[in-house]
Amino acid sequence: MKHLIVYAHPHESSFCHAVLEIAVKTLQDKGDSVVVRDLYKLGFNPVLSAKDFADLRGGEIPSDIAKEQVYIKEADCMTFIYPLWWTSMPAILKGYIDRIFAYGFAYQFTENGDIEGLLGDKKVFIISTQGTPNDIYDASGMSEALKQTTDIGVFGFCGMNVLEHIFLGKVNCISEQERTDMLQKVQNTLKSAF
Ligand SMILES: Cc1cc2nc3c(=O)[nH]c(=O)nc-3n(C[C@H](O)[C@H](O)[C@H](O)COP(=O)(O)O)c2cc1C
Repeated sequence: MKHLIVYAHPHESSFCHAVLEIAVKTLQDKGDSVVVRDLYKLGFNPVLSAKDFADLRGGEIPSDIAKEQVYIKEADCMTFIYPLWWTSMPAILKGYIDRIFAYGFAYQFTENGDIEGLLGDKKVFIISTQGTPNDIYDASGMSEALKQTTDIGVFGFCGMNVLEHIFLGKVNCISEQERTDMLQKVQNTLKSAF
């Protein structure tokens, strides 16, 4: 199984980074191949520009977009790891999706004008951390809204099979034991998924 992890957190002391480390280790221990695209470390340009539009419409794929699309083509499973910022993914990751999940690569219109997802052979895991406890976001409908806008609105739209979205809540003020339990949950989920 070939895994592509798209990681979007600027610093290594973050809980997201601990999640990244355990995810890579778990998948590699299974003998799977893992490629990590660390968007901040790469200095990924997240702005879908007028030039990008012109190039893509003219059938020319900008080289940095083409490079990331090759990583996606080669992967069986994509895992996204990010902190929740303003009830969404960080802008750098949103920009990755804006630019890389382009028309003709991730989706297209059929002759009838229906949307056709083009990434139907990809499985997806989403692991997001958040400051708010899960039960508060569950009760308010926010957890469901996040699933609608991200899992279904982005990845489902492209035909991808979202296996699980793990919400790690209240991570700014958890005990060492809670932290260990959350990392264990990530490990167990990735271990048992394939
Ligand atoms: C710019 C910014 C926006 C945030 N917005 C939210 C939010 O909408 N909901 C929430 O629960 N936590 C929010 N947080 C808290 C982060 O989700 C939390 O600090 C992060 O998940 C902690 O994990 P980390 O150690 O991996 O950064 C925000 C934090 C920042 C810096």
